Amino acid sequence: MTDPSLAAAPALPSSGRWALRADLLDFSDDPGFAAPAEAPGVRWRPDHLLLVDGQRIAAIQPAADPLPSGWESVPVVDRRGQLLMPGFIDTHVHSPQLDVIASYGTELLDWLNTYTFPAEKRYADPEVSRVGAHRFLGALWANGTTSAVVFPTVHKVSADALFDVASSKHMRLITGKVLMDRHAPDGLRDDVVQAEQDCLDLIHRWHGRDRQAFAVTVRFAPTSTPEQLTMAGQLFQAHPGTYMQTHVSENRDEIRWVEELFPTARSYLDVYDREGLIGARSILAHGVWLNAEDRAVLREHGAQIAHSPSSNLFLGSGLFDWMKAEQEGVNVSLASDVGGGTSLSMLRNMADAYKVQAMQGVRLSAWKALYTVTLGAARHLGLSEEIGRLEPGCVADLTLWCWAKGQVAEHRDQLARDLHERVFSWMTLGDERNLLATYVAGDCVYQAEEPTH
Ligand code: GUN
Ligand code: ZN
Repeated sequence: MTDPSLAAAPALPSSGRWALRADLLDFSDDPGFAAPAEAPGVRWRPDHLLLVDGQRIAAIQPAADPLPSGWESVPVVDRRGQLLMPGFIDTHVHSPQLDVIASYGTELLDWLNTYTFPAEKRYADPEVSRVGAHRFLGALWANGTTSAVVFPTVHKVSADALFDVASSKHMRLITGKVLMDRHAPDGLRDDVVQAEQDCLDLIHRWHGRDRQAFAVTVRFAPTSTPEQLTMAGQLFQAHPGTYMQTHVSENRDEIRWVEELFPTARSYLDVYDREGLIGARSILAHGVWLNAEDRAVLREHGAQIAHSPSSNLFLGSGLFDWMKAEQEGVNVSLASDVGGGTSLSMLRNMADAYKVQAMQGVRLSAWKALYTVTLGAARHLGLSEEIGRLEPGCVADLTLWCWAKGQVAEHRDQLARDLHERVFSWMTLGDERNLLATYVAGDCVYQAEEPTH
């Protein structure tokens, strides 16, 4: 069935003052693992107007209230009955791996050698990096993701290209060139001196400019020499405000390899910790096989695990115990980890997260999942004054969704008895086809094609 409001939608303004009328959903606090009906922090504001002034949210009010003075004649995009949420935040994703997403038949180490490393070599070419950055960020927006923590490749030009495209749209992006000086093929290794210089160049050019932030990007312990890890730790410590991203304890063969390479480390995590790489701005993907001591280290530093359920299922890595991590004080965000993960859609990743928890007897509510990809991630990144909420003063990073696409989802949607049931079935059955529009800093960067029938 055609969505009637789509055909009637006025052209979407892309700058200045304007307003959006829709049903607003966001979070003021962590709903935790409470039963949906008792979960705190859920903010549901049906039929409201969100007023945008330039890059920021200016005000939010019930649609029936008179507009503030000076706003009476601004264009109103009328999407009543549709769902408006903050743009989603993907805390771990690899831009070049759109080239290898959905590759058959391997676990992590074979997958890297067979598919991923060969594909990443091509990004030495500035043109490949430039085109790839446009393709990747465009795909994020077309999936409703407006902020991301991204691994490019070892090549400085691949990070430059991402920063360049993101800043041209005022998008919040966290990235840095990948560090890897061993156990990788020719064309995909750096060395300590050149890597440090490349990182410094990127920091000076991009860190803190517009909405760009640099991340010291250690691929994972096996692909850096101890000397490179020491350099990375010193760089991270010397530049407050930068982030650190890496992988940890994803796959059991990988962990055995790390034990062989670093026999004096207490654990895989300790390889990073003893070099000063763990802090409040550290984002560690996976953490499936961490022990209690590791979790205590993460808690003490306020570091976060970027839980990547789709990837963990696809690469057969294991089931992350989210509840235990949170009970022991570890910050957890959600990530697609494309191309280990099989979708950039955070809806699909939330649906996979539900299944990973269900396998362990835990129920993940739609509230907890959606909080995690909005305000939760924003808080763990230290960015909750800017992103993750529908709040005056925050940047207008917004996504507009239809509730159901296709016969089965439409049927299910009509039978939902309460708001959680409706949002949960949307999260479980939906994907990027439900997305109507994405705004980054008040600008429309993606709009679904109008239906032709
Ligand atoms: N560990 C080291 N590199 C990677 C990667 O590209 N993807 C995943 N999932 N794990 C990694
Ligand atoms: Zn990854």
